[in-house]
Amino acid sequence: MERIPQNPHHSDTDNHLSDVDEKAPEEKVEEAALQEEILSESHSDVVTPIETARESKASSKKWTKEDAIQFYHIDGWGSGYFSVNEQGNLVMLPRGEGGPSIQLMDILEDIQKQNIDLPCIIRFQDILRDRVVRLNETFGRIIQETAYKGFYRGVYPVKVNQLREVIEEIVDAGQPYHYGLEAGSKAELQIVLAYNSDPEAVTICNGYKDADFIRLALLGRQLERKIMIVIEQFNELQLTMQMAKQMNIMPMLGFRIKLASKGAGKWQSSGGDSAKFGLSLAEIVEGVEILKQNGMLDALKLLHFHIGSQISDIRTFKEAVLEGARLYVGMRQMGAPVEYMDLGGGLGVDYDGSQSNSDYSMNYSLEEYIRTAIKTIQQVCDDQEQPHPHLVTESGRAITAHHSCLVMNVVGSIGEGLLPSSTRSPGLEGSEYVKEVDQILKDLNPKNALTSYHDMVAKREEILNLFKLGMVSLKERAYVDERFKELRSWLLKNRRRMKRMPDELESVLEKNATQYLVNFSVFQSAPDHWAFDQLFPIVPIHRLGEIPRRSTTLVDITCDSDGMIDRFIARSEAFNSNLWLHRLSPKPYYLGMFLTGAYQDIMGDLHNLFGRVNEVHVFCDDDDPEDFYIQEVIPGDTIHSVLEENQFVPFELCKFVRTAVEDKVKQGKIKPRDGVQMIDFYESVMKGYTYLRN
Ligand SMILES: Cc1ncc(COP(=O)(O)O)c(C=O)c1O
Repeated sequence: MERIPQNPHHSDTDNHLSDVDEKAPEEKVEEAALQEEILSESHSDVVTPIETARESKASSKKWTKEDAIQFYHIDGWGSGYFSVNEQGNLVMLPRGEGGPSIQLMDILEDIQKQNIDLPCIIRFQDILRDRVVRLNETFGRIIQETAYKGFYRGVYPVKVNQLREVIEEIVDAGQPYHYGLEAGSKAELQIVLAYNSDPEAVTICNGYKDADFIRLALLGRQLERKIMIVIEQFNELQLTMQMAKQMNIMPMLGFRIKLASKGAGKWQSSGGDSAKFGLSLAEIVEGVEILKQNGMLDALKLLHFHIGSQISDIRTFKEAVLEGARLYVGMRQMGAPVEYMDLGGGLGVDYDGSQSNSDYSMNYSLEEYIRTAIKTIQQVCDDQEQPHPHLVTESGRAITAHHSCLVMNVVGSIGEGLLPSSTRSPGLEGSEYVKEVDQILKDLNPKNALTSYHDMVAKREEILNLFKLGMVSLKERAYVDERFKELRSWLLKNRRRMKRMPDELESVLEKNATQYLVNFSVFQSAPDHWAFDQLFPIVPIHRLGEIPRRSTTLVDITCDSDGMIDRFIARSEAFNSNLWLHRLSPKPYYLGMFLTGAYQDIMGDLHNLFGRVNEVHVFCDDDDPEDFYIQEVIPGDTIHSVLEENQFVPFELCKFVRTAVEDKVKQGKIKPRDGVQMIDFYESVMKGYTYLRN
């Protein structure tokens, strides 16, 4: 719910923006909004350059960049990558505090010179690198400080953002740490096989697997990579053992377990007993026995769990790690030589900057997350005299979210402004209805506001019904509609004079926001907002030295009424239903939507790189023995085509794999004939369908 937080020290008589800069930014905005007398001004929402200049000069005295930083919670969600400069522009600090700072407006100017239109995604590759380094360095440091005996081998889950430049940057930044990759489909595994060539780095194969998927993973084993096939479904175990025997390769296996512990919030269904993925405890026990009987127990190297993305509460994570550590110990005690523990994804991103356990935040730091994992596992293992496992995490969101943002322009507004009085229809003086609504407004005072509102609503409904029956003129109805808005305007202006604003009236005011029409599509650029109500920080990228005076919601330019944003980050509430922005002027006005680097770029229709499905067009045909015929077949995407869509060059990927195979042939580790077959197989999978084959 949108409420400008009330300042407890606020005085009723204090009706002007004060020169003293002691007020909270929220209170300054409230004052400015009151002075604005939003509804009674004019029908147009656009002010002249002179008005803007005057306003901006006046407000800049009282509104500082610190106010803007605090008001938009930039310090909370920005993780040190964002700030505001003296010119009131949003700046990026891609290498964190102390590093170079870049004005987003400068980038915008540059791209516009190159005739690149908005909306535009801007990526900061340095932020990606910084995220990888922070994660690995922090793990390394805490492992050392706690004398933990295992090492850390993180992997980046490709599905979170599988664009070529993103993966290349992450792989490059992760090289000193043997940072690996995770794949959840054949298409992703093709990328991972080509890029993750470090024999020390881990590759994790998650997701449902068919024979081609498993064979590709075993091909990676032939290249002496640490490729772990994570058994998610019990039947995958038999298939993997069978294929490994046929190919005479010792696989590296992981068991994914369904923990009883599960995350909280929007992505919690990935964990818990009813999760879609993972083995039950009975299946784990049975799986260990089957591997033993087949002489393949040595292949079991990893225990994996994932309790859901965006873990907001550190206690949930601690519970899961504790349960996982007990299972690790249990499996070791059964004789399984498990060496790695994979804690999955879930490391959160503080989207609303509240540092709380709300769905859009996290109540812990990276440091606390890592310490919790290490300490918990260390203690369980020491108690049971088992070796500390090497640690794997599959953090995706926390690596990629900050690096990209969407810059978009506001192209207009859909206001609720009152018609100027001169255009109010004359000649209505004789109407009873007009007299009645005029009387309601005349009698309106802070004490009877709620009753007056109810009277006005009732009168409006009555007039609508009479209008439908043809008993009231269009002019009368229009007049009453305008008086209804006038009552809302009065409420807004007199908010402070009322001891307590009833909730019903408060929600009337919330609907008072102006809609800013923004040049973007929610479905394309923020699908999680549309599908899961995920919040993203949205902030003007300029004019931050001016006080924001307009309470707005954002509508996109699609023809779908769901194409809007009316939930915004808030510190003290779950969310705000309005966003305070600047008045529009004839000059362009730009907004940035931030922390969109995880999932948003790729969720649209290529999750896990599963592409367009095959399509057939069926027609009825009485002459046909089956009464129909298939007129057209439109093949779905091949892996080749989805890779191309994500800016990979399939030919290049094949070349990487061919070179790796040829090296092993030269070293005498693979027979030339087998090498040719491996390359042919890799290339043939690329020509195939992105989905599982029967
Ligand atoms: C198995 C697995 N690993 C890793 C991730 C990445 O999670 P996150 O982006 O929260 O780090 C996911 C996403 O849900 C997942 O399903």
